Amino acid sequence: MGFKVVVLAAGKGTRFKSDLPKVLHKLLGKPMLWYVVRSAKEAGADEVVVVVGHKRELVEEFLRREFPEVKVAVQEEQLGTGHAVKCAASFLKGYSGKVVVLNGDTPLVRSEDIKRLAETPGDMVVLTAKAPDPTGYGRVVRDGGEVLYIVEEKDATPEEKRIDEVNTGIYAFEPEKLLEALEEIDNDNAQGEYYLPDVLKVFKRKGYSVVPVETLDFSSVMGVNNRYELSVAEKFLRDRIVKELQLSGVTVHNPGSVYIEPEVKVGKDTEICGPVYLRGKTEIGESCFIGAFSDIEDSKIEDGVTVESHCWMRGALLKSGSSAGPFAKLRPGTVLEEGARVGTFVETKKAYLERGAKANHLTYLGDCRIGENTNIGAGTITCNYDGFNKWFTEVGKNVFVGSNTLFVAPVKVGDNSITAAGSVITKDVPENTLAIARAKQVNYAGKAETVKEKLKKRKRDGHSQENS
Ligand code: UD1
Ligand code: CA
Repeated sequence: MGFKVVVLAAGKGTRFKSDLPKVLHKLLGKPMLWYVVRSAKEAGADEVVVVVGHKRELVEEFLRREFPEVKVAVQEEQLGTGHAVKCAASFLKGYSGKVVVLNGDTPLVRSEDIKRLAETPGDMVVLTAKAPDPTGYGRVVRDGGEVLYIVEEKDATPEEKRIDEVNTGIYAFEPEKLLEALEEIDNDNAQGEYYLPDVLKVFKRKGYSVVPVETLDFSSVMGVNNRYELSVAEKFLRDRIVKELQLSGVTVHNPGSVYIEPEVKVGKDTEICGPVYLRGKTEIGESCFIGAFSDIEDSKIEDGVTVESHCWMRGALLKSGSSAGPFAKLRPGTVLEEGARVGTFVETKKAYLERGAKANHLTYLGDCRIGENTNIGAGTITCNYDGFNKWFTEVGKNVFVGSNTLFVAPVKVGDNSITAAGSVITKDVPENTLAIARAKQVNYAGKAETVKEKLKKRKRDGHSQENS
């Protein structure tokens, strides 16, 4: 039997004090709502419906971009969680499976819990948890094992407030019975809202079954109502991601300082040194080394790659056995073929380094192709931009590029050639050619002494800048 999921995401999130709707605030680079919808989908829901309201254009735009298959229901006025579910009624009428309701501000919810709830028999199944600090949550009031009702913090007596078992806001219902009960709740409470948990009393009155299920992992059901709780949830999530990687065969040093976004993939026997940021759709292969203080986004790093400390990468591709850093900046369109290497203080952009090509120090390579086994000397720069257009530099294979060469693009250097140190290369260099493009040196024998005397005299006469 299938199930649908309804996610409540119409609230303003007043406690965030933000122009952005609460559910769009991010943990590890993704909005809270992204995690909730992902878990619902992973649990195997037939359909996911998100109830939107406050600033719904923003929430809808996010959903269209990330989850185009998700359905949207609109709650024009935010009259409470019970009212919000009613706004999704058209998706539930006549549906024979269960409906699982989730809050959009519970980003750590596990797909296993959603599935477990959907599969638990009962007209209403409610997920509860013992909270280390229950403040702010609805309390689950029991008589023995039986749940009598749920009371919101603001409506609770001092005695009820002492209860540490809380409502997680995650439930599974028989849809028809839920819709029926929603017609019978009122807003006669401290907040003047239609509370979804109030359907529990209606279910009991009608003799429908109410089944509590307790989760032992409170962190996975915590609600995020302000930016402090957002940071707490982010830490839990970070630990969860790092632990999953560790258990799958990745060594992580200094794990408390490792920031890895949820879509990042890392292969086994790779070693990661914190602090480090791995973002977006970054993929790292097996047996790699990722040095501390690196920040890598949307990049692909194949097996056996070494990234020394302090590397910044966006949209780069590092093939097997290539290496980068320390202190390298690899911008979009950088490709390092097998065995290619960029070293210290090297910046690359749309740079294709073929097998074994090396730029070890202090270099800018932009809009270029560097051939197999070519060596780029320290201080080399591709002058790719004339203030209006970008131009391409092509360097063949086995070229020795002398230190401080400037390639004034567009320019081509043929295979097996040499550029002399300090050359400003403005014309193509054919293959097997030595290009020297620098001012000629002139030596004046004995002139050093004369010059020194002259300078000394000038200092005595008080012409130095210090004295003037
Ligand atoms: C809710 C529960 C509380 C539970 C807690 C768990 C109610 C009345 N209370 O409290 O028992 O312990 O979650 O985290 O349900 N929303 C709408 N429309 C509305 C109001 C809210 O869509 O009119 C959405 C919000 O965007 C949010 C979710 O429902 O994603 C929960 O609302 P929130 O105000 O955060 O409820 P809590 O006070 O946390
Ligand atoms: Ca909440």
